[in-house]
Amino acid sequence: MANITFTSPIMHRDKTIYAVAGDTKTILALAEEHQIPIPFECRDGNCGSCLIEVSYIDDKPKMSIALTEKEKARLKELQVVTAEEIADAEVRDMPPRYRLACQYIARDEEVRIRFTGTPGGS
Ligand code: FES
Repeated sequence: MANITFTSPIMHRDKTIYAVAGDTKTILALAEEHQIPIPFECRDGNCGSCLIEVSYIDDKPKMSIALTEKEKARLKELQVVTAEEIADAEVRDMPPRYRLACQYIARDEEVRIRFTGTPGGS
């Protein structure tokens, strides 16, 4: 079961949600379902509005590492990921710090998602 805590200066308090095993919703879809105001526009990895910062709380092996080509391109364009971080994700299973909420599918892990509330902010 995924345990996802959302935190943002535009929220009164942090909110933790529990995604059921086998759920394949994106972080953005889960946020919308729980009225968590992550900004978005395209929902398709093109605009970069839904930029989030991800921290892993537990020490389990990281799971949600695979980046789509769109996500890689957008994160590079936003200058929040380096070529080295992309390589770390692809070769060493080390997830980058910034992701797009519309591309990131929560797996069975405990994560903290931070967003500013400003489109493309993190
Ligand atoms: Fe446009 Fe996620 S909503 S990249």
